[in-house]
Amino acid sequence: MKRHLIAILLVLSLQAYNQQSDFLVKPYLQIGKTPSPQSLQLLWHAAVSSDVWLVEYKNNGSNEWMRSQNQTNSKITITGIEPFTVYSASLTGLVPGSTFLYRISRNGKVAFNAEAKTLKSKEQSYRVAISGDMGAGSGTAKKIAFEIFKAAPDMVAIAGDIVYNRGLASEYTTKWWPVYNKDNADTLGAPLIRSIPFVASVGNHDASTRDLDRFPDALAYYHFWDQPLNGPVGKEGGPIVPMLTGSDANKKAFYEGASEKYPRMSNFSFDHGNAHWTILDSNPYVDWNDSTLRDWLSKDLAAAANATWRFVLYHHPCFNSSRAHYEQQQMRLIAPILEKGKVDIVFAGHVHNYQRTYPLTFMPDNLGTQLVAGPNNIKTGKTVSGRWTLDKDFNGKRNAKPNGIIYITTGAGGQGLYNPEQQKDTDSWQKFTTKFVSTVHSFTVMDVDGNSLMLRQLDINGKEVDAIKITK
Ligand SMILES: [Fe+2]
Repeated sequence: MKRHLIAILLVLSLQAYNQQSDFLVKPYLQIGKTPSPQSLQLLWHAAVSSDVWLVEYKNNGSNEWMRSQNQTNSKITITGIEPFTVYSASLTGLVPGSTFLYRISRNGKVAFNAEAKTLKSKEQSYRVAISGDMGAGSGTAKKIAFEIFKAAPDMVAIAGDIVYNRGLASEYTTKWWPVYNKDNADTLGAPLIRSIPFVASVGNHDASTRDLDRFPDALAYYHFWDQPLNGPVGKEGGPIVPMLTGSDANKKAFYEGASEKYPRMSNFSFDHGNAHWTILDSNPYVDWNDSTLRDWLSKDLAAAANATWRFVLYHHPCFNSSRAHYEQQQMRLIAPILEKGKVDIVFAGHVHNYQRTYPLTFMPDNLGTQLVAGPNNIKTGKTVSGRWTLDKDFNGKRNAKPNGIIYITTGAGGQGLYNPEQQKDTDSWQKFTTKFVSTVHSFTVMDVDGNSLMLRQLDINGKEVDAIKITK
């Protein structure tokens, strides 16, 4: 009997070993370069080999397995890490707003399968979970991942600081994939990104480390994420992207791995459901007074005039009452552009708590005052003075029609909380702030149904700590 049990355990552990050894990173979903409710991009990482990989998928209720017709791969050869391959397969012909099954075979043997959600069409209602500053690998980050899983969103949007502390590929290995692509759901993480498409903006921790000699696996965002490339091109050393430093060999390895995604994947936009999303790089190395950037943003929002909702996602919150990072106000410079483009909500992170402003409009007085450079000559931000108008009649209940943009700071996704002492100290809040929750980790859940939007902030135990309704 005992021998029998040992044999079973041996088989089970061998199975587990075989399953694990197929992938360095198990499959995960991305919206891809041209997002649509009929398509998604499936990526996975594996050791460099001549293995033959096959991706098959079928829509819910269908008996027909379709084969991905377009599979690419990119070899990552970073100093200090065993070379590996990032595979990417296009899934097309999906039914909008539904679930589908997919499986990946390696050399003719199924190595992985999962169920996943597609993006939504214009007519469908949808739920998005939003949080920043998640990838700390901390106990709180893992619990938030579990709560996001329980909320069952159709898409997850990360407001920057995807992974700590330097956005390195090696940090994804220890702090990111095990939490957000875990095989089962519990308080240590969840199988989120294999089943739900994620989008992300870059934070300072993802994009400020640019010395490829000290950190050859920096800027892993450009290796691992697959998002639209419809933003301004940007040139290293210009107003959109700073120079990389490092040996020619290290730079070459980075450029080859990132391909056309660097630096273009820093600013982009796409549609999901009846909303237009604009994702921006708010790092202080970007000059938001630059006319190329401003023109692109204006045109992007003007072209989205027919969308019911317009959301903007970036990292550094410019209407922030926390003592931490209060001075990093550079994104105030684009407030008039966002207002003209009829943006409804701006989501940011960076400050590790939750804050909501009154609906507001803002006119900068000046081009911003550059702050002194911080460590490694990275500028920490700009102060931007100006005049704001607050809509204090909006309460998100009886009056649900805001006059102005609502700015949400949702940076309590896993890192240590900022300024818990300010939650009850309302005198310490700036006049534009109406809600401030800094004593508990939390994330945002947004439900959109046509002209009606419900935004809730759930804490690490799933308890609602804020809720507003917005209607058109
Ligand atoms: Fe940050």
